[in-house]
Formats: sequence, structure tokens, C-alpha cells
Amino acid sequence: MPPIPFNHARQTLDEAMAETFSPDDLPLEKSARYTELKAMIAAVVAGETSLTARYATAVSLLVQAFAPRFFWTGFYVVDPLKPTELVVGPYQGTLGCLRIPFGRGVCGAAAATGQTQLVKDVHAFPGHIACDSRSKSEIVVPVYDASGALAAVLDVDSTELAAFDEEDQAGLETICAILLTA
Ligand code: SME
Repeated sequence: MPPIPFNHARQTLDEAMAETFSPDDLPLEKSARYTELKAMIAAVVAGETSLTARYATAVSLLVQAFAPRFFWTGFYVVDPLKPTELVVGPYQGTLGCLRIPFGRGVCGAAAATGQTQLVKDVHAFPGHIACDSRSKSEIVVPVYDASGALAAVLDVDSTELAAFDEEDQAGLETICAILLTA
């Protein structure tokens, strides 16, 4: 049998991925959608050692599952060279700030406290960093590594006020909990 040309093999793999991991098949009900999305992300990243690949996969599937409500979706990772500073990682959306010190803005508050920040109106949040003036509400969830150290925060912004609720918080926290541990 002749070898399968690389492009053909690649296409076949991508087609299989698209079929197996299509967010179109996710349930409409939000908490069920998060539960299946978590399983989908875990399955795609299983065995993957690159943190960039894990973060980028989560961003892609989250945006496909929840756009356009998710206007800006991405990770700010703890800079190993400056452990009290976040640096932008994989994201989808308009241009984001490159660096955020712990304690500044919503992302910095999540990093400093280790707690999810659910912000219904970003303009009412002291020190909010307006990377894109269209953002009106935001949720930021900490991501911990297997040793329990803060590795990153997941930042999701919306152009609608109060776009995120406790179901989003629970769903995103569950996804962030398995991202670097499962
Ligand atoms: N809004 C964030 C800054 C990051 S961007 O919106 C992409 C904050 O205040 O932490």
C-alpha cells in the first residue's frame, strides 16, 4: 500500500476531530453545555504536555460554544520571570493588554486573591483595565497547576452588562480545575 500523503492524513485527522468535537452537538441548556464542554476539552488535551496547546484548545472550544456572548476569551499566565505579573497567553478577541500586575484590574484581583471575580458592570469595578471599551461585564477564573500553584487566569469579557452568572462561574471553574490537572 502506498504511504498516505501527509496532507491527506492531516485532513483526515482534522475531519475526525471536527466530527468528534463539534460544539454544535452540545446541549443548549447552559450547565449541561458546560458539563459536556469540559469532557470535550479534557478529551482533546489528554496527554498533551504543552500548556499553550491546552490553553489554546480551551479558548477555541469555549468561544465556539458561547460566542457571541464571549466577546474576548483568553488566558493571562503567571510570568515565570516575574511571579507577581500576568502576561497574555492564548486568546480570541480584539487586542488585549500584554501584561497585568497582580492586584490591578479584574484579572489582577483574581490572581492576587485566588478567587473568581464575577463583575456585572466593569465600570463599577475599581481599577478595571479597559483593553476594549466595548467590554461591559467580565468573569475571571483562576487556574491552578497540579501542585496547587496559581498558573494563570481565564478572562472572559462580554459587550453586554451582567452577561455572566453563577452557572457560568461554576462551569468555567470546573473547566479551569481540570485544565492543568487532568
Ligand atoms: N479587563 C481586564 C483586562 C484584560 S482585557 O479586558 C482583555 C481586567 O480589568 O483585568
